[in-house]
Amino acid sequence: MVARTDRPTVATDDRIRALLASMTPAEKVGQMTQVELGSITPAEVAERAIGSVLSGGGGNPGDGSVGAWRDGVDSFVAASRRSRLGIPILYGTDAVHGHNNVVGATIFPHNIGLGATGDADLVRQVARAAALETAATGARWSFAPCLAVPQDIRWGRTYEGFSQEPTVVAALGRAAVEGWHGEHLPVDGVLACAKHYVGEGAMEWGTAGSHRQPWIDWWDGWGPDWLIDQGDIRITDEEMREVHLAPFVAAIEAGALTVMACYGTWHGRRLHADRYLLTDVLKGELGFAGFVVSDWMALEQIDADYPTAVERAIGAGVDMVMVPFNHERFIGTTLQLLDDGRLTVERVDDAVVRILRAKAAIGLLDDSPPPAVSAEVIGCDEHRSLARRAAAQSTVILSNASALPIGPATTVLAAGEALDDVGIACGGWTISWEGSPGPITPGRTMLDGLRSALGTDRVDYERDGRFGAVRAPVGVVTVHELPYVEGGGDRADLSVPGEQIDVVRRVRDHVDRLVVLVVSGRPLLLDDVLEDADAVVACWLPGTEADGIVDVLTGRVPASGSLPVSWPRSAAQVAGRTGSVSEPAAWPIGHRAGDRPAMTATGGP
Ligand code: BGC
Ligand code: BGC
Repeated sequence: MVARTDRPTVATDDRIRALLASMTPAEKVGQMTQVELGSITPAEVAERAIGSVLSGGGGNPGDGSVGAWRDGVDSFVAASRRSRLGIPILYGTDAVHGHNNVVGATIFPHNIGLGATGDADLVRQVARAAALETAATGARWSFAPCLAVPQDIRWGRTYEGFSQEPTVVAALGRAAVEGWHGEHLPVDGVLACAKHYVGEGAMEWGTAGSHRQPWIDWWDGWGPDWLIDQGDIRITDEEMREVHLAPFVAAIEAGALTVMACYGTWHGRRLHADRYLLTDVLKGELGFAGFVVSDWMALEQIDADYPTAVERAIGAGVDMVMVPFNHERFIGTTLQLLDDGRLTVERVDDAVVRILRAKAAIGLLDDSPPPAVSAEVIGCDEHRSLARRAAAQSTVILSNASALPIGPATTVLAAGEALDDVGIACGGWTISWEGSPGPITPGRTMLDGLRSALGTDRVDYERDGRFGAVRAPVGVVTVHELPYVEGGGDRADLSVPGEQIDVVRRVRDHVDRLVVLVVSGRPLLLDDVLEDADAVVACWLPGTEADGIVDVLTGRVPASGSLPVSWPRSAAQVAGRTGSVSEPAAWPIGHRAGDRPAMTATGGP
């Protein structure tokens, strides 16, 4: 067991050193091992002194219900407490916009929407609420926030970044870390994970493919259409620091104790094996005292020879390896590398100390676990109203020729698949890894919001916009992207599909003023829609409380959101990185219709 003290305290570095001194090499390597929940049993976790178990996107214990989550996580944690040294595992999950694997959890807007709010206080509250819902299932580590600074919106992970502007990402990233940790980290805090270190927002179009190494046979038939994700970053050290490192500096200042490395390469050098960035810069210059976790199966990409890959990653500064499947191979390989002197005991000890330090900070080395956070917080009214406010504040009115706000007694013809679809409003990383359309979890759609605000009999909804002879003063129609995740969302063509434009045109003929809502993870090319629209509104991926968008449409909540990324006019412009194409954007970063241009992050201490 962990050494007992009279009262529960946060373990000190001395205590960690004492623990380290009593560990066998296998127990040390066990702590450095993170396994996906379906690939290990609680008994093995105890036997091998495993450091962490994770749920990837959609990787749920049991049937994914709250009860199954609590039981599932608890069985691993309890088993780890029964291991020889009793060091509890850290249970990690991708709670990237709320505890998004869990049916019934509150789903907040994806980061790009939070970026549009520019409101650090709000982001802190959102992260706190997500932390409580996560902790309520027993997980104490979230792989969030993503601190990408996306420069090319064709990238499928654009929506995971707050903004194209590093100062905004830094301010909101800092607030997110503060929210995840909360004021009582050992009691109800959830460790944040600043990811993906570093530079991913600058990946070069057409360079994707690090996941398609010839020796990795399990990628066969999967991901051949990825175009930029996991690609090569071709920027100078100066740009790397000024644009992409800056948010990590802020997150570390805010107390982040875990950092996830980035797939892909910098001028062809694998980021997971980059000693300069992982050790010299992060742990040296920035003084990061926590630990670096590798990304899902990222080590396999480093070298065809697995021992060489492990040697290079850990040697470069990776402390915990998200294996995630074959932990026996990882543990055996690492022990052999130690025996052979290809990894030093000092490096392994340093990794273990860093991992234990993070565990200590969250109270896992204290004598008795804190009382569990009540499951009642999951999807509670308070969190849902916060999510609704976040969705409202993230709404950006791009243009408005007297179509908004929609007055209280207005009759509306409503259309578009996304208007009444929780799954589309949530996007990727929701219930499953990729997300999917449909009623995947309880939530309120924009249509629900319109009906509540205007009265059910004033809102006529035809998904495809076929209204026969009916006319109304106002039409509200969505265009959208279907859910996607990571490289699966890499897309050369960001124009709106023809069948969606058809819906817009059909409704146009039946209304005096037409409001077009864009439900997407990034700007879309709107040329074909603009001529028909009297108002255009960016809704991003608002989450389960998409009725917050309607609060802005009806003027119940003032429109305060502004563009976190510039909104291109043409495909040529999309292809250029910021500022490299001279044609003006349709709308510049910071834009919102009819008022203040500048966008700055506000709020926070
Ligand atoms: C993603 C990470 C995520 C991890 C675990 C990876 O594919 O790049 O963002 O945290 O999987 O699910
Ligand atoms: C998992 C995700 C993971 C991804 C790796 C998926 O099967 O569910 O969590 O991020 O694979 O790219």
